[in-house]
Amino acid sequence: MFLLLLTALVCGEPHVQPSTAGLSPELRALLLEEMKLLEQSVNRIPGLLARGALHPVAVEAHRMQDSFVLKQKLNDAQRAELHEKLPAGFIERDQRFHALAGRLHDAALAGDAELSAVFFGRLVESCIGCHADYAGKRFAALKTEAETSHHH
Ligand code: HEC
Repeated sequence: MFLLLLTALVCGEPHVQPSTAGLSPELRALLLEEMKLLEQSVNRIPGLLARGALHPVAVEAHRMQDSFVLKQKLNDAQRAELHEKLPAGFIERDQRFHALAGRLHDAALAGDAELSAVFFGRLVESCIGCHADYAGKRFAALKTEAETSHHH
């Protein structure tokens, strides 16, 4: 309570952190739909890697790479909304995530189990990084400075 008061005093005005909260319900629903698909793949991959089932890993990675529901299902207005409401940093994180999914796919397809595990680790780090910056409300344990910092 005291902290809240203090924050209010120091900041003077409430600051609005760019987040998915500002998206239209339709667009946010698409994003959450994508997230659920990503989670399914991320849950499957460790067991597949452990068994050396690299082809199925490549299939899951490809699914994630393509998963951008947003890419496939967005109409022009929604695409514009996405770029308007989400900061460039979000788009960059998303691009990095998709690039890593691509590298995981390639490593798995090439039959390199060790490299696949490395890229899988980086991929999960990229989930964490984006959630830390843009979904701190949902995943409070991940919250970073980026989300708590103030814009004056
Ligand atoms: C570019 C940013 C970004 C990346 C990368 C990202 N997420 Fe998310 N994710 C979000 C945001 C933002 C939310 C919160 C959306 C909201 O609640 O409005 C979210 C929410 C979720 C949710 C909750 C969905 C629900 O039903 O409410 C899950 C599960 C999830 N992400 C899984 C993942 C996994 C697994 C990965 C990595 C493979 C990942 N995400 C990568 C931005 C990202």
